[in-house]
Amino acid sequence: MAGLNLPDLNLGRRPGSDKPMSQPSPAWQIRTETAADAAAIEALNEAGFGPGRFAKSAWRLREGVAPVASLGFVAMEDGAVRGSVRFWPISIGGTAALLLGPLAVDNAQRGRGIGIALMQAGIAAAKQGPWPCILLVGDEPYYARVGFSRMPPGRVRFPGPVDPERVLGLSLQPGGLLNVSGQIRRAQIDDPVCADGAGVG
Ligand SMILES: CC(C)(COP(=O)(O)OP(=O)(O)OC[C@H]1O[C@@H](n2cnc3c(N)ncnc32)[C@H](O)[C@@H]1OP(=O)(O)O)[C@@H](O)C(=O)NCCC(=O)NCCS
Repeated sequence: MAGLNLPDLNLGRRPGSDKPMSQPSPAWQIRTETAADAAAIEALNEAGFGPGRFAKSAWRLREGVAPVASLGFVAMEDGAVRGSVRFWPISIGGTAALLLGPLAVDNAQRGRGIGIALMQAGIAAAKQGPWPCILLVGDEPYYARVGFSRMPPGRVRFPGPVDPERVLGLSLQPGGLLNVSGQIRRAQIDDPVCADGAGVG
């Protein structure tokens, strides 16, 4: 986390909402994900999305590709992982970009601002990197709270059916969304193999 210009993560307020907090200051803290968090994160994603998540178009972009390690964040409280967000590298028409998700918060801990704070941490960290933008498939009213807006119809194409009204984008750099368009592919492994890299023989 050193060197990152992260938002205020000492959470005495409800991020992304105009509503005042109705509870005392939450005790949870956001930190970078570690390998030891993997099982707890998997349990959160299973509870939040169920096995159907693997059939979704967005999930196809994650198959065989590791998330960006520096952009995985967890919310911790009393030694437990309350929520998690990860970002995957993707290619949009040949441009390296990010896919937000999965984002999942423990069912018993929802409505405390954890989801918004996790995304704010991830977005702030992503702004330190080379990516021009983040895409996701999700509910605009929620993700608009951290700056996402609907992508123009047809601008980007997922590798499978998605509801175009749920395809959202966020620029990480000035004009970061304006120059991306086309087919979304998995990072690295879906890149066409050129003759030089084929290793024939
Ligand atoms: C979506 C999710 C991550 C939200 O986490 P959270 O920690 O409860 O969210 P926050 O506390 O930061 O924000 C809560 C606010 O967002 C609103 N909100 C939550 N989900 C929403 C949605 N899908 N659409 C619109 N608003 C939503 C809540 O009503 C609440 O509003 P309020 O502040 O006006 O009361 C959590 O419900 C979850 O893990 N769901 C299951 C997995 C999932 O659906 N992930 C997102 C995939 S698109």
